[in-house]
Order: sequence, then C-alpha cells, then structure tokens
Amino acid sequence: MGLEKICQEVIEIAKAAGAFIAGERTSFDLKLVEIKGKANFVSYVDKKAEEMIVDRLRKLLPDSGFITEEGTAFDSGEKFRWVIDPLDGTTNFIHGAPPYAVSIGLMEADEIVLGVVYEITKDECFYAWKGGKSMLNGREIKVSEASTTEESLIVTGFPYGEVKNSDAFIDTIKHLMVHSHGIRRLGSAATDLSYVAAGRFEAFWETGLSPWDVAAGILILQLAGGKVSDFHGGDNFLFGGQIVATNKNYFNEFQSLIENNYCK
Ligand code: IPD
Ligand code: CA
Ligand code: CA
Repeated sequence: MGLEKICQEVIEIAKAAGAFIAGERTSFDLKLVEIKGKANFVSYVDKKAEEMIVDRLRKLLPDSGFITEEGTAFDSGEKFRWVIDPLDGTTNFIHGAPPYAVSIGLMEADEIVLGVVYEITKDECFYAWKGGKSMLNGREIKVSEASTTEESLIVTGFPYGEVKNSDAFIDTIKHLMVHSHGIRRLGSAATDLSYVAAGRFEAFWETGLSPWDVAAGILILQLAGGKVSDFHGGDNFLFGGQIVATNKNYFNEFQSLIENNYCK
C-alpha cells in the first residue's frame, strides 16, 4: 500500500479517535484525571483513544512498531514505526478549552514519511505524506512569506515547572513582545506546528517536547515549505527535546535569536 492510501486510512483513524474524544468531553468528569507530574495530566480518554488508534494501525500496517505517549504498545517494528499522541493538549481538554488534537506520525527508519494532526475542536485535519503536499481538510496549505520578527506572530509552549531555561525563555519573550506581532500559547504542540504550516503563525519554539508531540507536525510543516531545527540549527529536533520551527523566510533570524538566548 502506498503512503497516500495509508494517509487516507490514518485520517479516518484520527477522526474516529477525535469523535470519541469529543464525545467524552460532553460528560467529562475532572475526578477522572490522573496527575503524571506537576501540570502533567492524563485521563482514561487519552488511554482509550490511544488503544483505539493502535489497534487500527496494527491492522493497517502489520509488523510496524510504536512510540506512544501512553505506552499502550511497545513493538519495535522492523521497518516502520508509528509515533502517536492520542490527545495533544490534555490540559486544554480537561478544562474544556481549545485546541486539542490527535497526532499520528509514521517513520520509515529515521525519516518521518507521514503525518496527520486532527484538531478536534475546529474539525481541522492537517496531513502530509512524503512525496505529496501538506493539506488541511482537502486543501493545500503553505507557510507564510514573512521574513522578519516585525511581521511575525509567534507561538510557544511554557515548560511545565522547568526552571533550567527560564532566563532564556524570558529574554526571548521580552524581545518578541517588543518586536513581533505577539506571542501565543495554544497548549498543543502538534497544533502549533500545523498552524505554522498553514501560515497562521510564522514561528514556534519549545523545550522539553517528546517525539509524539512533534513527529506528525514536523512533516506537515516541512512539506508546506517550512523549516525545522534544534536550537543549534541542527537535526536533533525529533528526539532532542528542543525545536525551532518557522516558515521558510524567517528561519535564519528566528533560529539565531533562539540560539543566542539558549546556547550562551
Ligand atoms: C503537551 C502539549 C503542550 C506542550 C507540552 C506537551 P500533552 O502535550 O503539546 O502544548 O507545551 O509540553 O506535553 O501532555 O497535552 O499531550
Ligand atoms: Ca503531547
Ligand atoms: Ca498527550
């Protein structure tokens, strides 16, 4: 089966999980939330959604491996590995605030070859496969043309209880507050990357993310014409816990800003 066909199937799987999550939201009880760490939550909804996704992906691509946030599947996989966050934006979900998304990436060896991010609250499905284009609900998306901070709206995530980089974070915020169109914090890294891909934001950066937060969104952004790196401008952005992601024209300026602030 080719990647395009696999992608169509993955879109259906992401939407089915999204429908389950949206349904659970209508009767969600805060008492059912478990605390994984400070401000790091998980509920039966995350786990059940992941089980549904894994079950269907196993049938779609037998022998594939899994890297999943909730750890419901561990198979290593010879050739392909799925990288799954069943609910990216759990804190938003439990508070009933948008956005939150299903994120499913597929890796062939070390390369991301397919990505689907289904943002449930707006019913927006972003997707891409290697060799194709980036799409949003059937329409091609592209990054914006902006090339300077002065023309840019930036999105980030606030590290949970992390004090290590707080000076760098605050210095970056201070600079962007003065020079950019503004800073947003949506609460879903997969959605952040997809919005840069769709030209809604010019740049995104965050520390402490896991591969399941970013795998799908990275490919969607790259195939929409965007650029991704770690804070040094290198390639360790999927497993390295540091990501800079921008449109094409703004990359050099933004990556330099992040590197100067974080890698002193
Ligand atoms: C979180 C979201 C958030 C980011 C956190 C992630 P979760 O994922 O992507 O935007 O700032 O670091 O952990 O826990 O909601 O799946
Ligand atoms: Ca996540
Ligand atoms: Ca999650």
